[in-house]
Amino acid sequence: MDFFTLSETRQSCRNYDTRPVELEKLARCIQAARLAPSACNSQPWHFTVVTRPDLAKQVAKLVQGAGFNRFAERCPAFIAVTEEAANLSARLGGLVKRQEYAQIDIGLATAHLCFAAAEQGLSTCIMGWFQEKAIKKLLGIPANKRLRLVVAVGYAAPDDPLRPKTRKPIEQIATYLK
Ligand SMILES: Cc1cc2nc3c(=O)[nH]c(=O)nc-3n(C[C@H](O)[C@H](O)[C@H](O)COP(=O)(O)O)c2cc1C
Repeated sequence: MDFFTLSETRQSCRNYDTRPVELEKLARCIQAARLAPSACNSQPWHFTVVTRPDLAKQVAKLVQGAGFNRFAERCPAFIAVTEEAANLSARLGGLVKRQEYAQIDIGLATAHLCFAAAEQGLSTCIMGWFQEKAIKKLLGIPANKRLRLVVAVGYAAPDDPLRPKTRKPIEQIATYLK
């Protein structure tokens, strides 16, 4: 799929088939995430890929709450994205420029991951709502690290339609100075 079609068809999936996800496909998602740009090439990320059914079920429980993410119950795989220490240049640059480069980098890597999934016929949902402490304990992620995102990955259920995109108009989000 060309990139423009991919960006139009990727959508957050909240209705998964229980069919398991092939490890080779997940590995390609991680490879695409690995190639994402990052400030000072710092690559401040770690990806924990969960496909073991009993673990995935527990992750699914820990991303739910206050009515959020109930769909996770049927999702067969999750990728937890942890923030790692950035290199010295990125840390110093971030301090001087008052920017959270590591978090920006993680967003970019996660976008790469989701597009790689979509390219392979998989669906994803990035989740920012989860029980951080409990998931870190479950997955053996050190308590002092920040778990930034959990991505649900799986095959969309056959009755999951392509939704129209709800987006702000171009004029509102872009300025051309010609
Ligand atoms: C940082 C971040 C956190 C998100 N957290 C959740 C979440 O916890 N649950 C959920 O269902 N969707 C979550 N989303 C998905 C957004 O709701 C979704 O991307 C947005 O509504 C646009 O829809 P689309 O991805 O289908 O184009 C999150 C997306 C991002 C980027």
